[in-house]
Amino acid sequence: MNRARESSVPPRSAEQGGTPDMDAAPGAASGTAPFLAQSRTASPPILLQSVSKAYRRGAQVVPVLTSVNMAVAPGEFLALMGPSGSGKSTLLNLIAGIDRVDAGSIHVGETDITTLDDADLARWRSRSVGFIFQFYNLIPVLNALENVELPLLLTPLSGRERRERARTALAMVGLSDRMDHYPGQLSGGQQQRTAIARALVADPDILVADEPTGDLDRVSAGEILDLMSGLNRTMGKTIIMVTHDPRAAERAGRVLLLEKGELADAHA
Ligand SMILES: Nc1ncnc2c1ncn2[C@@H]1O[C@H](COP(=O)(O)OP(=O)(O)O)[C@@H](O)[C@H]1O
Ligand SMILES: [Mg+2]
Repeated sequence: MNRARESSVPPRSAEQGGTPDMDAAPGAASGTAPFLAQSRTASPPILLQSVSKAYRRGAQVVPVLTSVNMAVAPGEFLALMGPSGSGKSTLLNLIAGIDRVDAGSIHVGETDITTLDDADLARWRSRSVGFIFQFYNLIPVLNALENVELPLLLTPLSGRERRERARTALAMVGLSDRMDHYPGQLSGGQQQRTAIARALVADPDILVADEPTGDLDRVSAGEILDLMSGLNRTMGKTIIMVTHDPRAAERAGRVLLLEKGELADAHA
């Protein structure tokens, strides 16, 4: 049976966990650029209906997701767990508009992103979604500020405005004193903070994170999770996080389990 059940446990926002940076940063940042500090967006609901996806390797077809239904409430912090190869990254990439469904629809607010052409999807993505990856995906030859500024290069903002926003985003993740450091000069936790600043800088409603603590020690992982909880709680960002780490999943308001292309609630 390959039908996914729609999971409809009511979300609770991530209420646990103190986040010194997040609590301090909005005030600290508001002097420079209020765009992030004042941002408490009404994030749009996300609704996946009968989403299917297979990969083709030559003549071989590998089905990954089969008729998945899923609803994410505005401002929810959702964790997605499941065995390796179960399609978690695929699902995340579909929701983020990085990849395309074979069938089904993905509504984000009023927009069915599966109907957008490539250019519109790219525009939607740059406005709406921030990405956080396991291995940070920072550009080694750019310093932290330049890395964070990168997503804004496609916007009409002036260079001055871009740098100001990038500085604000870095302040929010507690890295004001590392802006001119290159990724190689930063710890794993600091690199992930930089990546979170980059994900935030365009002020998207949705953050997707693919095993964001997978490469970090326990303390750094805790700091990253504090930061993400804070973004969810204080800024109303919707977060969808793939993780293998039960400690990470604990921070989420709801945990979904993906197994053999099917989605289920992980716990009662
Ligand atoms: N670009 C691709 N081409 C072919 N197969 C892929 C591709 N990406 C992922 N897969 C396959 O799809 C399945 C799900 O992958 P993935 O979504 O990365 O799983 P997870 O993130 O849960 O480990 C795996 O069997 C993987 O090998
Ligand atoms: Mg994966």
